[in-house]
Amino acid sequence: MKKILIATQKPFAAEAVNQMKDIATAKGYEVELFEKYAEQSDLVAAVKTADAMIIRSDNATAEVINAAKNMKIIVRAGAGYDNIDLEAATANNVCAMNTPGQNANAVAELVFGMMIYIARNSYNGTSGTEIRGKKLGIHAYGNVGKYVAEVAKGFGMAVYAFDPFVSKDIMLKDGVTPVDSVEELYSTCQYISLHIPATEKTIKSINFDLLSKMPKGAVLVNTARKEVIDEDGVLKLMEKRADFKYISDIAPNCAHTFAEKFEGRFFFTPKKMGAQTSEANVNAGIAAVNQIIDFFETGNETFRVNK
Ligand code: 3PG
Repeated sequence: MKKILIATQKPFAAEAVNQMKDIATAKGYEVELFEKYAEQSDLVAAVKTADAMIIRSDNATAEVINAAKNMKIIVRAGAGYDNIDLEAATANNVCAMNTPGQNANAVAELVFGMMIYIARNSYNGTSGTEIRGKKLGIHAYGNVGKYVAEVAKGFGMAVYAFDPFVSKDIMLKDGVTPVDSVEELYSTCQYISLHIPATEKTIKSINFDLLSKMPKGAVLVNTARKEVIDEDGVLKLMEKRADFKYISDIAPNCAHTFAEKFEGRFFFTPKKMGAQTSEANVNAGIAAVNQIIDFFETGNETFRVNK
């Protein structure tokens, strides 16, 4: 009997785990739940006998993959797979997959939760601002970006997007104004919502020069990855422009400096919260289990992310 390890330092909702277990066991798979582990070394020990593994932001490092002698497939239940060592996976003949789109609506809803919180001065009793009529720039128009656009239109925002990999026709069809460059997006929009992955090219790419282009009352919303931000650049801009605000789903490394110097101009979630809804956990968790079963039963590698 093949064993699927669900290794989640930040657990799925119980409803998701139950449904994942039911699907896997009905198909003859054993499921081991390994949640809230304390150390990375615990994960290295836990993978030893697993044939497949489902993770969230857990780190599937080379050490983990090398220790998993039976492992054939790792599915990141979510979009970003920057936490999987793809080279190590390929070298060990392990298929790495993600579950694109499954948690996108949850992330998009959090964008607005955080935007309104900051626009209303953290609900501190003073007069804030409204988001209706403001310009929102979506940086990368993928699964999350599309949901953000849909919700933004409901709020009456003017929506712009930049994504060199998505055709302008798709954006126009969605009622979104495409722009020609990242610089144009930032200089046009008071609100920027980031949806780029963390790659060699994007890490630290959101820097002082780019953010300086944003109009007065600028708010940078980051539900992507903290690594894409050049933190020194953001701190420099926060010092220079009292109107600039930064809200992020997961605190930057320099969060203590924000707390010391920029009260009321930032908000950071204590844990990554974008995908933390029961619905998103169910969608991504079930997709992950089904992808594993399909991989073993039919060899389907549709969502493979390593070569
Ligand atoms: C993703 O890439 O899908 C999100 O960052 C969700 O991460 P999480 O599963 O750790 O909440």
